[in-house]
Amino acid sequence: MAKILVVDDEKLIRKSLKVALEEEGFGVYVAETGAEGLSIAKKESIDLVLLDIRLPDINGIDVLKMLKDIDNDLMVVMMTGYGTIDNAILAMKSGALDYINKPFKTKNITSLINLAIKTQSLQRDVRRFVEKDRIFYGFDKIIGRSDAIHQVLDMIKKVARIDSATVLIEGESGTGKELVAKAIHYNSSRCNGPFVEINCAAIPSTLLESELFGYERGAFTDAKKAKKGLAEQANGGSLFLDEIGDMDAAMQAKILSVLQERKFRRLGGDKIVEMDVRVITATNYHLRDEVRKKKFREDLFYRLNVIHISLPPLRDRKEDIILLTKYFINEFNELFNKSVKGISSDAMDLLMCYSWPGNVRELRNIIERIMIIDNPEIIGCEHIPVEIASGHDNLLEISGLNHLGNFEIPDEGIDIKEFTGSFQAMLVRKALQKSGGKKERAAKLLKIDRFSLRYLINKLDPSLGQSDKSPS
Ligand SMILES: Nc1ncnc2c1ncn2[C@@H]1O[C@H](COP(=O)(O)OP(=O)(O)OP(=O)(O)O)[C@@H](O)[C@H]1O
Ligand SMILES: [Mg+2]
Repeated sequence: MAKILVVDDEKLIRKSLKVALEEEGFGVYVAETGAEGLSIAKKESIDLVLLDIRLPDINGIDVLKMLKDIDNDLMVVMMTGYGTIDNAILAMKSGALDYINKPFKTKNITSLINLAIKTQSLQRDVRRFVEKDRIFYGFDKIIGRSDAIHQVLDMIKKVARIDSATVLIEGESGTGKELVAKAIHYNSSRCNGPFVEINCAAIPSTLLESELFGYERGAFTDAKKAKKGLAEQANGGSLFLDEIGDMDAAMQAKILSVLQERKFRRLGGDKIVEMDVRVITATNYHLRDEVRKKKFREDLFYRLNVIHISLPPLRDRKEDIILLTKYFINEFNELFNKSVKGISSDAMDLLMCYSWPGNVRELRNIIERIMIIDNPEIIGCEHIPVEIASGHDNLLEISGLNHLGNFEIPDEGIDIKEFTGSFQAMLVRKALQKSGGKKERAAKLLKIDRFSLRYLINKLDPSLGQSDKSPS
């Protein structure tokens, strides 16, 4: 229930408003003087004040200013007795929502208040959503400890502050380009405006123009109604053009001219639409190479590349894998209400040695799948998908074989039994993974019989045999 405060020295007005507003379902407080009104506003969480401009103690305009100091969101409607327009203008300049001339019909006041309360509640909803997005896309949601990620973070913090600088984000699929684009938007002064995205590769180039710039009624056969384009919808916010490298030559020319002019016309229209957006673009390509190959316009490249952010592939910043893995485990624990405690160091080794062609998205998907399907207490090697655990390079890397060419026995020597033992244990683990834990098949893969396998498991690492569910 919204709370309304009526401040007026005329008893009759206080009384009639109280009755009428209580009938509408509002909570109503009344005050005779400015001082009394201010003290109520300090104590109660008032939504709207009906404030007489002429009060016995303090001038109504001053009371308005003091009310706004107490709570800037407080809506104040002035009631002016003399109806001088000067006073009303002054009140509006000082933050009043509206003014109403006395004498008035209570019906007019109640409908004005109902509308104001509804608008305020919608505004609060919007603010809450924006706040949620701001938290969701905070800088702290970009995880990593590599120099590369630190540099990216430093850069986007600066960029967010520069209100309309155009940004080009390059990086392989799944490296976090969209995440970075959103972090820039939601941490900039444009965060209350919309973040509008369009994937230039997903829309046929014939449709892209009308999607982006909209059209007037009758612009083409199917245009039964006028439609705002995405560039217009993004006004006041940011426009994210994803996969910009896939834009065809005609669209590149059009975009270039729009970016230069900062205005455009809808298709089939004459009216000029001013564009007040920050343009953020992203691409999987090396756009400079595309320019060299004459596939992308050089002048457009320079227009877009005002601020350049490059997201390196995950395999070039392996130190981020550990943090990301832990972050995703926490994320999915919360999301799916699970209680996975962590990941074993052997399993972590497997993740560290993989080349991650799908980058962070692939890592995230794998952790998600393990947590949904296996839901283990601790993620172990047996949960890591075979394609990740058994990459050829991977095997060599784990075993150290790819270094053997220049491997030298250290001065203190090496324990050949221990070394070959751990190598054997790894091969046994691989075979068990590949066989889904079935010892019979694992033994075949290793070209030994199952008794030998059992012997090896017991000797090397009894925990290896625990995933076996098949009768043997
Ligand atoms: N540094 C990071 N920290 C946390 N999560 C990340 C990070 N980088 C990427 N992600 C997550 O990985 C997934 C893929 O990221 P995103 O969609 O931003 O990639 P992209 O570069 O836009 O990929 P594509 O080129 O395929 O569109 C998302 O779920 C994103 O939240
Ligand atoms: Mg993307």
